[in-house]
Amino acid sequence: MSATKIEATADYQQSLNNDLVTFTPRHYDDWRDEFHQNGCVVIKNVISPERAEYYREKQIQWLKKFELGFDENDESTWTAEHLPVSFKGGMYFAYGSPHEKMAWEARTEPKVMEIFENLWETNELISSFDGMNISLPRRKDLNWSPWPHCDQNQNRKGMQAVQGLLNYAPNGPNDGGLMLMKGSSKLFDEFFKHKRESFDHEDAPPPEIEFMDLFLFSQKDVKWFEEQGCELIKVNMEPGDFVLWDSRTMHYARLPEGNQIRHVQYICMTPRRFATSEALELKKQCFESFTGTTHWPHCNIRPTKEKPMRDGKVCPKDRNEPFEKPELTDTVLKLAGVKAY
Ligand SMILES: [Fe+2]
Repeated sequence: MSATKIEATADYQQSLNNDLVTFTPRHYDDWRDEFHQNGCVVIKNVISPERAEYYREKQIQWLKKFELGFDENDESTWTAEHLPVSFKGGMYFAYGSPHEKMAWEARTEPKVMEIFENLWETNELISSFDGMNISLPRRKDLNWSPWPHCDQNQNRKGMQAVQGLLNYAPNGPNDGGLMLMKGSSKLFDEFFKHKRESFDHEDAPPPEIEFMDLFLFSQKDVKWFEEQGCELIKVNMEPGDFVLWDSRTMHYARLPEGNQIRHVQYICMTPRRFATSEALELKKQCFESFTGTTHWPHCNIRPTKEKPMRDGKVCPKDRNEPFEKPELTDTVLKLAGVKAY
């Protein structure tokens, strides 16, 4: 076994053109080998099925707290008018949802933190203020199309962020879920050797919303990756499983087609040392105002300022704080970047 080397540039944050972290390959004899090989990995039983059920139920209750008539047992209520406003049929980032108690409980699950601690080989982590996904199957009021993308700017090189999601409900081939272009993170530099234009997808955010770390691929791009030997896979998971993927990996969330409601919490952590003091200050403001961010924990701290829009107007159910506020434990404050290690 050769020694691991995690090199970081002296100036982590500033240089978009330099590698942030370089992992020299070695054998770990655990899930990290597969992760470094493919840029993605499923980690089984990170929380118990009972704990997953607790979160699943919490998410259902959250939908009902808006009092829009949603009933999980009455499919006729599985429409936009009975639900808070979401993106792509089930991603919730507004309404203070990234700071709901259940989101912070999920982030601070010991085995969830352990994944990122082992990955980055440090206990000093900060977390993104990411959303959740509750996708109802058989929605008739949705116009949905695949949106293959990656969440890393083409000017950032190397593995700079790793995303994940904690799965709460059974998730088989027909249950929608995460689609991943296995192996695509390794081809990131080659694909972006020349400047590429992000695909003008119907759901692409308008340019004035500077997501910065979002690139949408065209079908031609998808084919290019497949021709290089990558494979587009549907990730199947059981309640309590976790999937981790390098932010350079092409991916998208597919809508469920079976009977099962999809329930997940997106979770992403990186070392605190990657963040500038300005980024930490901005995180603090987001945390204190219950604002969401991008998937990136340490940079591109882009406060979610867009209001949830319903029929051209701000959703009357818009709110600036979670229904259930998180407990401000030491761990939460450290992961939020508010408290130093
Ligand atoms: Fe994404």
